[in-house]
Amino acid sequence: MPDESPLRERVHAEFVRRFGSQPRWMARAPGRVNLIGDHTDYNDGFVLPMAIDRAVWIALRPSADGWVRVYSLDFGEQAAFDPTALPFERAGEGAESWSEYVRGVAWALKEAGCAVQGWEGVAAGDVPLGAGLSSSAALELAVARAFASIGALKWEPSAMALIAQRAENAWVGVNCGIMDQLISAAGAEGHALLIDCRSLETRAVPMPPGAAVVVLDTATRRGLVTSAYNERRAQCEAAARLFGVPALRDVSAAAFAAREHELDETTRRRARHVITENARTLEAADALARGDVAAVGTLMNASHESLRSDFSVSRPELDAMVELARAERGCFGARMTGAGFGGCAVALVARDAAAEFSAAVSASYEAAVGLRPAVYVCRASQGASLESALG
Ligand code: GLA
Repeated sequence: MPDESPLRERVHAEFVRRFGSQPRWMARAPGRVNLIGDHTDYNDGFVLPMAIDRAVWIALRPSADGWVRVYSLDFGEQAAFDPTALPFERAGEGAESWSEYVRGVAWALKEAGCAVQGWEGVAAGDVPLGAGLSSSAALELAVARAFASIGALKWEPSAMALIAQRAENAWVGVNCGIMDQLISAAGAEGHALLIDCRSLETRAVPMPPGAAVVVLDTATRRGLVTSAYNERRAQCEAAARLFGVPALRDVSAAAFAAREHELDETTRRRARHVITENARTLEAADALARGDVAAVGTLMNASHESLRSDFSVSRPELDAMVELARAERGCFGARMTGAGFGGCAVALVARDAAAEFSAAVSASYEAAVGLRPAVYVCRASQGASLESALG
């Protein structure tokens, strides 16, 4: 379990070194792991993620000339722009550079009618990049926190999550749902959040003390994930149109059974995943709330199977990781997590078995697949936060 304070201290110290004074604020926003409910958010459905104890930190103060200047310790480069002079649409093409997330959030805040004022700062994070743990949502929400502190904007987590999602959709060009931004904005220490992605209502579900959440990074990275993701999204939207409803959230199991024969094979599978995953997610939230980790594990296993065979977003390394995890003592269940096509699996494990489990799965995965995985035992952490850095 990483101790976050060294990262906070590093960012703080670099600020002092570069700017010669104390920062005014420290902003922090976490990455996330989704326990269950994947590819449901953009179908107005349900998800059950938790914010993790890995985050992006920004140390900052207002700038004298109204510009934004932020130095990334992770990339060793600075982004600088005048936030009052952002174009209507992103000018650059292709490069999903970290600085586009900063500009994108400034642009989306402006679009939402918020005062966008300049600041200078230093940023760094320990959410692994491209692993499916939402390092980009963490950066977006930390940046939103930074702008909110400088402009004295009211921090309303779901409104800020929507602004960050807008930055990702319209500026960066990834057509994601609301899950990653909302859990990074609204996460609750020691809890997972059941999110209704239509109403944006959240219900905090305490994590049972006897269970550990273990993230298993397959060390595979997704290629062409944006086009595959957008294709799944379009297939779901087409399925909803066939049922004559706004989103697959509105199709019950009974309505699906009555008409599934009218759908082509691919559409039927995609819709079946979303409809059954919504039901599993609601069930899992209830099971977690009563501490029935065995039931949650069984639902996680079923979720993986559905993502693999009906939604077709797994890959052999993820399937292998999940199999190997399930074979270990103390594992209640395991599944791929996030968009898929690579990245991480998540396992729910008896807390007293977590260390042994992590070592055993690392070794067996490396032996079977030939790649060295990264394994994180994660704690459910608080969502985006801001602290005064003065005295
Ligand atoms: C990515 C997206 C989310 C969600 C997941 C799949 O993480 O950013 O909005 O759709 O994939 O559940």
